[in-house]
Amino acid sequence: MRITFTGSAEEFYFVTASRIADMIRQKPDAVIGLATGRTTTGVHRALCQIHAREKFDTSRVTVFGMDEITNVSRLFPGSCYDMLLKQVVIPLGIPMENYLMPPTYSDDFGRECRSFEEAIDKRGGVDLQILGIGENGHLGFNQPGTPFESTTWLSRMDEKLDERIRRESGSAPDADLGGFTIGIKNIMMSRSIVLAANGAAKADIVHKALCGRISPELPASVLQLHPFAETVLDPEAAALFEEKK
Ligand code: GLP
Repeated sequence: MRITFTGSAEEFYFVTASRIADMIRQKPDAVIGLATGRTTTGVHRALCQIHAREKFDTSRVTVFGMDEITNVSRLFPGSCYDMLLKQVVIPLGIPMENYLMPPTYSDDFGRECRSFEEAIDKRGGVDLQILGIGENGHLGFNQPGTPFESTTWLSRMDEKLDERIRRESGSAPDADLGGFTIGIKNIMMSRSIVLAANGAAKADIVHKALCGRISPELPASVLQLHPFAETVLDPEAAALFEEKK
């Protein structure tokens, strides 16, 4: 696992964003998996700035969201669909047919999981998967305890997120909010991976994930086994790494 220590919060966003920009430049028809959250919102902002400056071709790249909240409208501003649309797809001018997202409503999520994987496979599989990390080490909606062999599935929602989504989306109290997510096995099949972590709240978990025991109890620890995985850290998230400069 390669670890990149950045010198400031701002540099962290630009270094992570440059991994996406470099991939698109090297392989204009690349397939790139994106993640949502506070971390990647800053990364996407930096990516838009790089693109505004350097105007690389985005007409053939495919992007997809690694996870989605189910049983809320896509138009809800907290849906992953809406976030990635506004943060990446529209500003970079990526054609809508090259934006793959799972549906938020379905009467058969099992079928949706398979067809989402097929859509990604049809485009040649994933060249780069960008990941954030939860404070408990989750990846996407793969919570601690998720088997490493898991493929795309409907997971349970993180409790804090469930509460926030209900409040902000005005969901009915009995709406069954779920977390559609690519599985750990799908993540590991990506040809390259960049895990991005920033802020003091991530310092402990990211150190355990990269330096501790590899176990499904800490989903991100599986990344130690990937031959082309990189973690990009800001100074706060890197606080427990002795080798940082
Ligand atoms: C959510 C998302 C993950 C994301 C994680 C970290 O649970 N499902 O894909 O990586 O949060 O989010 P943040 O960057 O806001 O800490």
